[in-house]
Amino acid sequence: MAAHTNQPYGGALVDLVVDSGCANELKKGSRDWPSWTLTDRQLCDLELLSMGGFSPLKGFMGQADYEGVCKDMRLVDGTLWPIPITLDVSAEVGEGLAPGSKLALRDPEGVMLAVITVDDVWQPDLASEGELVFGGNPEHPAVVHLAKDTNPFYVGGPVEALEPPRHYDNMEVRTTPAQIREKFAALGWQKVVAFQTRNPMHRAHQEITFRAARELETNLLIHPVVGKTKPGDVDHYTRVRCYQNVLKHYPHNTCMLSLLPLAMRMAGPREALWHAIIRKNYGCSHFIVGRDHAGPGSDSSGNAFYGPYDAQELFKQYEQELGIEMVPFKMMVYVPDEDSYIPVDEVPEGVETKSLSGTELRQRLEEGREIPSWFSFPEIITELRRTYPPRSEQGFTVLFTGLPSSGKSTLANVLMAKLLEIGGRPVTLLDGDLVRRNLSSELGFSKEHRDINIRRIGWVASEITKNGGIAICAPIAPYDAVRKDVRAMHQGLGGFIIVHVSTPVEVCEQRDRKGLYAKARAGIIKEFTGISDPYEVPEDADLTFDTIELTAQETIQQILLHLEKEGYIGPEVRA
Ligand code: PPS
Repeated sequence: MAAHTNQPYGGALVDLVVDSGCANELKKGSRDWPSWTLTDRQLCDLELLSMGGFSPLKGFMGQADYEGVCKDMRLVDGTLWPIPITLDVSAEVGEGLAPGSKLALRDPEGVMLAVITVDDVWQPDLASEGELVFGGNPEHPAVVHLAKDTNPFYVGGPVEALEPPRHYDNMEVRTTPAQIREKFAALGWQKVVAFQTRNPMHRAHQEITFRAARELETNLLIHPVVGKTKPGDVDHYTRVRCYQNVLKHYPHNTCMLSLLPLAMRMAGPREALWHAIIRKNYGCSHFIVGRDHAGPGSDSSGNAFYGPYDAQELFKQYEQELGIEMVPFKMMVYVPDEDSYIPVDEVPEGVETKSLSGTELRQRLEEGREIPSWFSFPEIITELRRTYPPRSEQGFTVLFTGLPSSGKSTLANVLMAKLLEIGGRPVTLLDGDLVRRNLSSELGFSKEHRDINIRRIGWVASEITKNGGIAICAPIAPYDAVRKDVRAMHQGLGGFIIVHVSTPVEVCEQRDRKGLYAKARAGIIKEFTGISDPYEVPEDADLTFDTIELTAQETIQQILLHLEKEGYIGPEVRA
């Protein structure tokens, strides 16, 4: 059998996992060491470090390597390395460490996965890292991560791994660099082109990869990232089902799927080099770099973070040194006359082309509209429809907010009756008093307790929405920030509308259905909303109603029409 010839980056594949005897010793020793609970990103980095995906790195970077990488993309020994691989820890942990200290690295359940022996501990200049590595745009997701989610101390040093982080999904396609190299060797795969993706694969992607493999006479590794990708991406469970389906569209025994537990930084050109190094470690000889490779797209002013082909240009400069060949691709477009995809720069003048953006695909899924067969394969569309049912089949939350006695509960009850009449989804009512009895009985009415109460309601409602139900909430919810948090909790799970019941305080006080305004005026109840506690009017309400002007029936009818306009109720529900 022909030996596989593609050398790991730096010559040898790193394996940081120690034998069981050594692991037991480290476990015993850890009794006296401080611990650090790894973040999602650090778990991904540790996993790739441990199994050699980041060869020749043998641990998290020390200060000199880090600074060299930020400034010149080089480790101290001169090796080309484009992205910092650093371990950030809190001041509390960082200040307790010195060269020679051991730090136990644990998963969120407390399982010790690895130990780092400290070489360096320092406070990095995170703003400068953001500038040098990612280009400094404050909206770049990695720059945001540095500003908001990065701890102030970095710890560098060699790592000894006890066990890899545990995964229970798709275990048959989670392969280490060593395992995949063995597979390639067993199959006689000498040349392998890798395809990186964080999205479902449609026809254009199949065309690119198949073209690359056919033209170069290589085998193909579909190597999607299943660690951390860009927020809002399709979840990896759905994507893996899509990839399994796309495999059927390649010749037998020429294409393999393996999942990569990488935490992407979306660093565009630098990230392309990093991706290539990783694929070299996984035994690949070629790497596909497409349009805007690993770029985060555009910022809120519409400016692209990177030029569309910057990654290809940077790769070209370093291709020799990286020791893995780039397969550059221009954007592919569909040519109906030929029923095929071709690179955009090869389309003859005047020939009609078609393409479908990610946003348009999402819209079509949400509205249950057709997705053309030139765009994707039927099995993949079916998978996406399972994960993204049309709005008329998604769950949603209606949050009524307003002063005590403003009419929230009445409206909530009428809305519930109408939605139950329509049917098709379970409906849960989370009324203020009901929640205070069943979910928040220990809480009072301080700002802190009110925020906890609303967060609990928001969490329950978001779970209901995620599972396709309807949650109708009717708390006072007087504070804007927490209402915004609750909206954010619903992002990507289904619908969310805020209805402000804006009955003026004088009218609420006149109604005083529970006699609480009178008690508040008498000073018997403290911190009473509208009297002795604030109510922040929601500027972002989707609907606002004054219960003096409209009857409950009229208000609810308007809410139903709004839900219809947004697509959450429609003919499908009754079909
Ligand atoms: S909050 O702020 O959203 O957590 O309040 P909420 O849980 O909706 O309040 C439920 C009912 O508690 C009664 N109540 C008070 N409201 C405001 N301030 C104070 N101090 C207070 N003490 C008791 C009040 O009747 C709320 O009922 P609604 O449904 O608003 O009339």
